[in-house]
Amino acid sequence: MRIIDDPNLLSAPDLCGCNFVPTMGALHAGHGSLVERARVDGRPVIVSIFVNPTQFGPREDYARYPRTLDADCALLEPLGAAAVFVPPVEAIYPRGLDAAREEAAALALPEVATKPGLEDACRPTHFGGVALVVGRLFDLVRPARAFFGEKDYQQLRLIEDMVAADRGRFGALEVVPCPTVREGNGLAMSSRNRYLAPEERDAALALSRALQIAHSAQRVATAERLMRDTLDAHGLETEYAVVRDARTLLPVTGFERPTRALIAARLGSTRLIDNAAMTVWR
Ligand code: PAF
Repeated sequence: MRIIDDPNLLSAPDLCGCNFVPTMGALHAGHGSLVERARVDGRPVIVSIFVNPTQFGPREDYARYPRTLDADCALLEPLGAAAVFVPPVEAIYPRGLDAAREEAAALALPEVATKPGLEDACRPTHFGGVALVVGRLFDLVRPARAFFGEKDYQQLRLIEDMVAADRGRFGALEVVPCPTVREGNGLAMSSRNRYLAPEERDAALALSRALQIAHSAQRVATAERLMRDTLDAHGLETEYAVVRDARTLLPVTGFERPTRALIAARLGSTRLIDNAAMTVWR
């Protein structure tokens, strides 16, 4: 696998106009599907692996976040990624981490990352760090297209709006949303699933079950109650289980327009999120 840690090497002629899959490593089949989708138009695919300190809150799992570079390269090799970009912290944050955290906190984020009261409320410093690192990675990699999973739906919407709002910086970059990849039992794939003890894996299925049960509800309040009841029944602590406008992520009163059900819940020391499109009733 071609591993690049020096951003200057990203301008090699065979990597120009690439498709880009940004990740924090601990790769799984969900990341693999992003690489497969990124390969279809024949452009070279660059995958970045960078556990971004600025998007973790002080009491979050930055230190224990899995770092598995050898296994990640073994997963990427057969998928035909042209290179994996593994920048050192100094390449992303040359002025140091304290300055980077200040910069992240001062960023003007799109409303979809500040208004909905979802991840933005539960993890108040998270999206500043995401916007900062993704912008920086885009500046360095200069991709034609960038691929993001719908599993982190609010993150995806943030990046879509951030890119659309700053064409001067990001040019014609296209943000490509990709469906969540699930295990056979419905569990959304996530690097954090490896924190789950074997007995917690069953309880973790409550998220996808809750989304399925709520899927065809005809009232928003009913869908939200069904989701909460399912999470409670499996012993999860709900942070939110709501139906929102699929674009703005603001509250809705009905299903006449595209909506999304979104869940965040805690299982022991692990925080899990999932989401799904709801049926549109006209
Ligand atoms: O979704 C992720 O893995 C991360 O938030 C991202 C987009 C790579 C930024 O660090």
